[in-house]
Amino acid sequence: MRALSVASEAVPLVKTGGLADVAGALPGALAAEGVEMRTLLPGYPAVMAAATGRAHDLGETFGGPARLVEGRLGETTLYALDAPHLFDRAGGPYLGPDGADWPDNPERFAALSMAAARIGAEGVEGWRPDLMHLHDWQAALTPVYLKALGARVPTIVTIHNIAFQGLAPAEKLAALGLPAEGFTSEGYEYYGQISALKAGLVHADAINTVSPTYAAELLEPEFGMGLDGLLRARRGVLCGILNGIDTEAWTPPYASPRGKAKHTRALREEFGLPPSDGPLAIVISRLTHQKGLDLLLEALPALTGTGGQLAMLGSGEPALEAAFRDAAESDPNVSVRFGYDEALSHRMMAGGDAILVPSRFEPCGLTQLYGLRHGTIPVVALTGGLADTVINASPAGIAAKAATGLQFHPVTSERLAQALVKLTTLWSDRPLWQRLMRNAMAHPVGWDVSARAYADLMKSLVTPS
Ligand code: ADP
Ligand code: GLC
Repeated sequence: MRALSVASEAVPLVKTGGLADVAGALPGALAAEGVEMRTLLPGYPAVMAAATGRAHDLGETFGGPARLVEGRLGETTLYALDAPHLFDRAGGPYLGPDGADWPDNPERFAALSMAAARIGAEGVEGWRPDLMHLHDWQAALTPVYLKALGARVPTIVTIHNIAFQGLAPAEKLAALGLPAEGFTSEGYEYYGQISALKAGLVHADAINTVSPTYAAELLEPEFGMGLDGLLRARRGVLCGILNGIDTEAWTPPYASPRGKAKHTRALREEFGLPPSDGPLAIVISRLTHQKGLDLLLEALPALTGTGGQLAMLGSGEPALEAAFRDAAESDPNVSVRFGYDEALSHRMMAGGDAILVPSRFEPCGLTQLYGLRHGTIPVVALTGGLADTVINASPAGIAAKAATGLQFHPVTSERLAQALVKLTTLWSDRPLWQRLMRNAMAHPVGWDVSARAYADLMKSLVTPS
């Protein structure tokens, strides 16, 4: 079976968050399941640098010339959408150098979706996908364009984060090539605006999100962000498939819990933290409301007051950065680094004793999975994928030798503080802590099971010809 994956980011070429890890890893994992998955990405400068193969002209596309240029994404084939008027600029995939959304984001990702639909309808040099796998709002107009082109190719829309819906003013309908009759509350209208994600959710043959718990949460007003009604109506085609991680890229530099200690010492030194006999907790995160790090700020005394320390790597909202900078200045047991640093994130996973993920909502979350693999005990909010991937160290969980981490609920600073106190208590029982580490390191976090689930879903949508 041939599938085209359409995404706005994918490792190793361009990444702002977990979507890139998933879009980068899934094509390789699906190859083992008999699915040949190729990937379409926007031709940002970093993507064009990897696209040095054959070019296919697409003609005029949303205000300028566009081509598909072939390249490699790991072991698989990449199509880069070379449209310099949309993608050849300095800055991030979504934000300009000033930190604001690119004003033409609706057109940029409509162009990506249109290119995907063209590949579905016409193929490229004889390669035509049997199915389209569309990630998040940036790819979600594809089913609408496929219909407009008269092509019948099954589509899966994967929701990585329903907080991002790709809204555009209604005046852009014609500019985005969207039929006006679809602009209704049953179609792609969302409170008077165009919603790219909603278009995808209405028209996709199947919808999934990245954990079973988030799939259930999305049906509730609290998590559905205005699309819960639509998702309830489409619950028959909605499912949750847990993300995996690239277990090779995230192999710990030790085989057993005892190997961690020297990495912890090195990490303390790197972060300028004093020696301590408490646990060294880490955070690696975007600093946004979703991630609940304001709750951590309030709960910090529970960690440092019981002998724990915090090393944080993050970037995002300036107010949160400032607040963590203040916390680090006033407490020698707190140290922070701002910016995006992949290599440092690996050293932190190796050296940390625990990883804190107090998210208000979390479709899947990847850092708790890296944590499990490294015996870096996850302390997580009981929500979304965090609920599905961590086994709480309740008395029963410990007795069953199954526990891999700590979960807290409801997601408040008080409950987080309690979990942090529990963390330092567990830590001081060394044999118990080593057992937790072993459990965590043995927990399966690779792609095998989930790649099979995606392959099964894909096969169920493609009728044999
Ligand atoms: P989200 O996609 O919502 O940000 P995930 O947990 O799914 O959350 O994925 C986040 C990814 O980004 C992980 O691979 C994490 O290691 C990485 N990451 C987040 N912030 C940073 C940072 N400041 N430096 C390096 N890597 C980061
Ligand atoms: C989103 C979610 C995160 C998930 C990632 C990859 O960014 O916020 O929870 O792990 O997508 O699916």
